[in-house]
Amino acid sequence: MTADFLVIGAGIAGLSFALRAARHGSVIVVTKGDAYESNTAWAQGGIASVLPDDQRDAGDTAENHVADTLDAGAGLCKEAAVRTIIGEGAAAIRDLTDYGVSFDRADHHFLLGKEGGHSHRRILHAKDTTGREVARALIETARKTPNLTLLEHHFVIDLITSEKLGAVAEDRVLGAYVLKTKTGEVRVFRADRVVLAAGGCGKVYLYTTNPDSATGDGVALGWRAGASIANMEFIQFHPTCWYNPAATGPEARSFLVSEAVRGEGGILINAKGEDFTQKIDPRGSLAPRDIVARAIDRELKRTGAACVYLDVTHKPKGFMKERFPYIYGNLLKFGLDCETQPIPVVPAAHYQCGGVLTDVNGKTTIRGLFAVGEAGCTGLHGANRLASNSLLEGNVLARRALDEMMRLYPPGRNELNPPEIPEWEYGDTAEPDELVVIYHNWDEIRRLMWDYVSIVRTDNRLRRAAARLKNLKKEVREFYWGHRVNPDILELRNLVSTASLIVECALRRKESRGLHYTLDHPETLVSYRTDTVIRRF
Ligand code: SIN
Repeated sequence: MTADFLVIGAGIAGLSFALRAARHGSVIVVTKGDAYESNTAWAQGGIASVLPDDQRDAGDTAENHVADTLDAGAGLCKEAAVRTIIGEGAAAIRDLTDYGVSFDRADHHFLLGKEGGHSHRRILHAKDTTGREVARALIETARKTPNLTLLEHHFVIDLITSEKLGAVAEDRVLGAYVLKTKTGEVRVFRADRVVLAAGGCGKVYLYTTNPDSATGDGVALGWRAGASIANMEFIQFHPTCWYNPAATGPEARSFLVSEAVRGEGGILINAKGEDFTQKIDPRGSLAPRDIVARAIDRELKRTGAACVYLDVTHKPKGFMKERFPYIYGNLLKFGLDCETQPIPVVPAAHYQCGGVLTDVNGKTTIRGLFAVGEAGCTGLHGANRLASNSLLEGNVLARRALDEMMRLYPPGRNELNPPEIPEWEYGDTAEPDELVVIYHNWDEIRRLMWDYVSIVRTDNRLRRAAARLKNLKKEVREFYWGHRVNPDILELRNLVSTASLIVECALRRKESRGLHYTLDHPETLVSYRTDTVIRRF
């Protein structure tokens, strides 16, 4: 298979890129599962943007949005990237509505929501399933776009680079080895322009708001290819994941209760009905997520309770059903009427603020390789992402990455004398017969990351995690080389690499900042006001 552009991932970033790129050349988008299995499709809250005058909250400006983003980012945002991305917000919304995304409106005006850390209402949404609506419009458009092939159930094993093939000239990307999961066949996909848009890594943790597909594939692929990785210590924990004490089996799995619920007046309380967040921050339940998640963690440890509660019982009857039908309906399915009973909630891993290091155009340290969306790290989020800034970044970066590629490597000017790429060698590797090893290791990683590397950290816990992950990496490597590849092995391999990168970054940051909080170094230090960058070579 050969294409001008190869896109890995079918969330907002990957598809926004692919739809534009198809105007300039052939595009293949690969995604390891169904196209709807992405963090994008699971996003509830919305997309933050300050629109032209008649469409914005009174008194809001792009400057306010920049200030809120910088404040949440705890001194680590790259201000130029923040200004650029937020400055292109209105264009992103236009792009998405052109593809058919239908945001909630009244009288031709967008209805705007509010979330933690935002000083104004500026979140465009489609009820409480905004991501699903964005994914629907982009996937439907992609399926009818000439020049664009969307291949589901295609799992990228590894990127192919000139360095890996032993070429001495500047390292550049040449394509990828891709497993067709339904047949087990591995093929070479050849492309001089490759976009990593494979999302985040919530499944590294025991409890997460993310779909099962969020196994850190983008970061792991970039890392193995030799790209620099940055700021992986900043994993965002969403404060309000529904706590289901009877969680047994996939039917009963927990799900996100959008921050937009707090934006509409929901209040976090403990079992005694006390609003404990007020003691921590004057913004209370609507403080930025790092602050609220830590306040909950502290409250749980203080009281020994299993959960806190999100109270919306003071809202008018019918409000939740109308504004948040997905959340309302889901809770009701499990016997909880949130209009009359507080919702039990706990924090859960939600968003990866670091990723493959890029500039504000998504360009990585490898020629021809770009990373966009959650897989990349532009400097927009700094040490803590402002809610609903990520769908915005996904679309803006996709458009900027394409412009940059067209400038640097326009199709038609493909690399001269590309090296021969060898076919995948299946060797005489056996079918995996000890699947229990995969599941055991998977559970162990997620449990140890939750226990040692979550909301509150210490040097000791991080060192323990690093030591255990080193052994797990060795086991996974042996398993990978000794068996025929399958999606479970590939996900485990990516999971263990990503977990190790999180721990390595966390160990390097001897301070507390944003989402990285450690009891051993509780201060924020000027000397650490810098990215944690891990270079492979
Ligand atoms: C939410 O709806 O609370 C999630 C929004 C986000 O993570 O940006």
